Amino acid sequence: MTGAAALFPLQPPAASTIAGGVDQLYYFLTGITLFFTVLIFSIIFYFMIKYRRRSPDEIPPETHAPLALELAWTLIPSAICVVIFFWASYLYVRNARPPAASTEIFVIGKQWMWHVQHPEGPREIDELHVPVNQPIEVTMTSQDVIHGFYIPAFRVKKDVLPGRYTSLWFEANQTGTYHLYCTEYCGTNHSEMIGWVYVMSPSDYASWLAGGEQNESMSQSGGHLFSLLGCNSCHMPGGDGPNLAGIYGQSQKFADGSTHVVDDSLIRQAIIEPDTVQLPNYKNVMPTFKGQLDEDQMLQLIAYVKSLGPEERKNGQ
Ligand code: CUA
Repeated sequence: MTGAAALFPLQPPAASTIAGGVDQLYYFLTGITLFFTVLIFSIIFYFMIKYRRRSPDEIPPETHAPLALELAWTLIPSAICVVIFFWASYLYVRNARPPAASTEIFVIGKQWMWHVQHPEGPREIDELHVPVNQPIEVTMTSQDVIHGFYIPAFRVKKDVLPGRYTSLWFEANQTGTYHLYCTEYCGTNHSEMIGWVYVMSPSDYASWLAGGEQNESMSQSGGHLFSLLGCNSCHMPGGDGPNLAGIYGQSQKFADGSTHVVDDSLIRQAIIEPDTVQLPNYKNVMPTFKGQLDEDQMLQLIAYVKSLGPEERKNGQ
């Protein structure tokens, strides 16, 4: 920030590729609002004086607005609204779809902290380290109540819901440290559910990932859970359950006739409510694991299933 912006910080720094577009729309909306507020109030005051009542028994003549005037003040505001609609929709759609090359990071909201897990293994609390100039997709869920994940400098915000995955993406374009907030009143210490986002150069980020205590990766942890919970006794070649290798991201036909892509939400549902996502040709024998896994473990299991690529499928592992 420079000059006036540093003295009067009216808005957070703009530190993501999304921020510029959001700000332009915001300035446009503010400008339009100011323009019409000034215009309308000026006209009101002018007319108040010009057409004031000059004698107590003055009766004004009946008038009709000319058609051209009626059309103008109907069509011009409509056109402005249409412009705002398409502009905002364009931004919304662009900001709703993460680029294919995004790095995934997982966030779990808990009363009252942000728990972050990187696929490579590192975990953090109320801190989020990301590389600069790299699209990041954040997959989020809550362990308890509704939270709201908000990074003002990136102009991204989304609710974090229990029992569901939501996601957002951003690409930070300036290294630095930025605020992270919870924006949904979630109980006594809601106001303390805050943290920092550290945007680092790619080399700093790589050494941050490599440093500290070496955790196993999310998919490795998931693999251990997979055998610990006995998943592997059915989900293996020739087992009672479907072989999960290569299933992630595929379109599957289910016993009820519906077709869905196997994604994070679907795997989560299969673990918690297995009878609702039956594959044809398999018996409805899988027990529910509801209440046996916390959200971290759930994400690790999903990461494990995701890691079972098509090669494992060929090898039948
Ligand atoms: Cu979490 Cu407010």
